[in-house]
Amino acid sequence: MHFHYFFASLLYFIIKPSVFADCPASSIASQNSGNSFCFQLFQIELEFVQAVRACNDLNGNLASICDAFTNEQLRNAAFNSFLQYDDKDFWLGLMNNGSNIWNWKDPSINCTYRNWVNGGPSTNGNCAAISISTGKWSSSDCNIRKPFICSVPQIIPKVDKCPYDYVYFDKTGFCYKKIFNKTFGEAIDACLYEGAKLVSIHSDEENQFLILFNSIGYPVYVGKTTWIGLQYSNHVWNWVDGTNFNYTSKYGFFDQQYNNTCAYLWPDPWNGNNGWKYNGAWENGWNCSMPNRSAICKMSPPN
Ligand SMILES: *[C@@H]1O[C@H](CO)[C@@H](O)[C@H](O)[C@H]1NC(C)=O
Ligand SMILES: *[C@@H]1O[C@H](CO)[C@@H](O)[C@H](O)[C@H]1NC(C)=O
Ligand SMILES: *[C@@H]1O[C@H](CO)[C@@H](O)[C@H](O)[C@H]1NC(C)=O
Ligand SMILES: *[C@@H]1O[C@H](CO)[C@@H](O)[C@H](O)[C@H]1NC(C)=O
Ligand SMILES: *[C@@H]1O[C@H](CO)[C@@H](O)[C@H](O)[C@H]1NC(C)=O
Ligand SMILES: *[C@@H]1O[C@H](CO)[C@@H](O)[C@H](O)[C@H]1NC(C)=O
Ligand SMILES: *[C@@H]1O[C@H](CO)[C@@H](O)[C@H](O)[C@H]1NC(C)=O
Repeated sequence: MHFHYFFASLLYFIIKPSVFADCPASSIASQNSGNSFCFQLFQIELEFVQAVRACNDLNGNLASICDAFTNEQLRNAAFNSFLQYDDKDFWLGLMNNGSNIWNWKDPSINCTYRNWVNGGPSTNGNCAAISISTGKWSSSDCNIRKPFICSVPQIIPKVDKCPYDYVYFDKTGFCYKKIFNKTFGEAIDACLYEGAKLVSIHSDEENQFLILFNSIGYPVYVGKTTWIGLQYSNHVWNWVDGTNFNYTSKYGFFDQQYNNTCAYLWPDPWNGNNGWKYNGAWENGWNCSMPNRSAICKMSPPN
């Protein structure tokens, strides 16, 4: 097994809900509990110096990466966000000072972690970019425009609003929890047992959060989907929690309109051999009685 994949799957099992902190709107929390900042992704392409300035305007910095875990989190988040690209690289806050000394733009960061492509940085330029497909870094001409990720400070101190094994997401005000290896019906029951409902999804932010929450960060196929509480019956889609069906994933809903089927989310990259790009999309069609990798329970914070 490729080391990078192994590492990502290992980390998947040690992610703790408590590492999700309160982050500014549309940014994501660092999943490394040693970090206290959030990441904001920008699809707009800027030159390196312009990207630095854009991050500084948010009281942040172009993102620094000090460990393989964060490298994978950002690579995966970018993969999900920059979905129009098969491959692409984005700026990291790392610059060559002209004597082959690479320094982080963030003055508070002085880590020596590097994930260069084989052979190390080339002489193509003095600014570092990371590939969304491989996670490897390469040096690039600073005047090229690329998407980028800023690290920005948390805004609100974390408050434990949710039961201990649930995660609070401030943009929706709900608590979420992953459960595993359940059929659709079992997942509904398991959520109910805890006073929750199998999840309904009503916005890009909520969908994006759940993609990151459930992703293991590398392409997977069989059994690697996540049940969401959406069911098709008699030509109508309904959320099992009774909320309005007023949103579908911006990454696509491969709605096959079979009667009595249940919908699931693809949280990881997968390009189907039918040409469909599943990453972030919803689909239905599998037997609701098959246990799948995960399902998500959602509840309002208890008072
Ligand atoms: C780059 O940094 C190294 C180590 O701090 C220093 O010795 C060197 O003079 C610097 N080069 C330039 C061009 O600033
Ligand atoms: C950064 O870390 C290196 C290696 O640990 C150390 O030699 C250097 O003094 C540190 N520089 C600063 C500014 O903290
Ligand atoms: C999933 O559940 C089935 C049936 O309860 C069980 O046989 C199987 O071992 C479980 N798989 C995992 C990975 O827990
Ligand atoms: C659900 O899990 C079963 C058993 O592991 C698998 O055969 C099936 O492909 C999975 N369905 C999805 C949608 O992942
Ligand atoms: C869908 O399934 C329901 C419940 O099993 C059944 O009553 C209904 O006739 C079916 N509708 C169609 C269009 O097959
Ligand atoms: C969609 O439905 C949800 C739940 O019923 C509701 O909270 C939300 O305001 C609705 N959104 C829109 C855009 O109508
Ligand atoms: C769905 O899967 C269950 C459990 O494997 C099986 O008993 C049932 O016949 C399947 N239903 C369909 C429509 O394939």
